[in-house]
Amino acid sequence: MNAWAVVVAAGRGERADLGTNKVFYPIGGVSVLTCCLRALESSGLFAGVALVLAPSDFEAYERLCAREGRCALVKKIAQGGNTRQASVENGLAVVPEEAQIVAIHDAARPFVSRETLQMSIELAQDTGSGVACTSVVDTIKQVDESGVVHTIDRASLRAAQTPQTFQRAQIVQAYCRARELGWTATDDADIYQRYFGRVTLFTAPGSERNIKLTTKEDFARMQTLCGFKVGIG
Ligand code: CTP
Ligand code: MG
Repeated sequence: MNAWAVVVAAGRGERADLGTNKVFYPIGGVSVLTCCLRALESSGLFAGVALVLAPSDFEAYERLCAREGRCALVKKIAQGGNTRQASVENGLAVVPEEAQIVAIHDAARPFVSRETLQMSIELAQDTGSGVACTSVVDTIKQVDESGVVHTIDRASLRAAQTPQTFQRAQIVQAYCRARELGWTATDDADIYQRYFGRVTLFTAPGSERNIKLTTKEDFARMQTLCGFKVGIG
């Protein structure tokens, strides 16, 4: 089995508003990006990583490697696009053909566990897809301009995370089709599902720790939980 990961790091981190792409921000001594790459490397599950970066961050990445060490698993760098979907597509394009499995992962999820990565790879091998998700703890209301329309049964809801892992040839095909037909989606599972049908979701133990650092408050909460300094006033 030859598994690669596409790590997307080419966003701008606007909601985090840290004055830099949030994945370069330090958490507990190293950047979010290094933390994420180390999690993939130490899992021992991957033959390579295709890292997707905005061209405007190439220099920042070089400085980061000089400071924190270059992750040897990063064997390809791809240029990010305007949307996450475009970034993933560019990342998939540089994954070598001998890779059977590709795990697509947000650099902004640095706390991914080995168990989560392993489950997603195994499910992708056995069923074609393995999409990390977590159950929903809040009560979710559907609303319109005039207020609450109804309360959705939360037992029927899942929050999708990454990794979202697939057989390489299939996810490449699905992304190609998405481009041809102009589909847009906020996650890879949606693109896969429109072409190949249902995806396999799984919830690994501790899935609630696999958070996506999105807002400034997420960084501040990490600071409180882990006791590291993020310099938020
Ligand atoms: N991402 C990317 N290319 C884009 C947009 C997002 O590679 N054009 C990546 C981000 O770097 C992040 C992941 O996709 O690792 C999830 O996206 P998100 O949390 O939305 O990050 P940002 O887009 O950077 O944040 P924001 O939407 O707040 O600007
Ligand atoms: Mg975004």
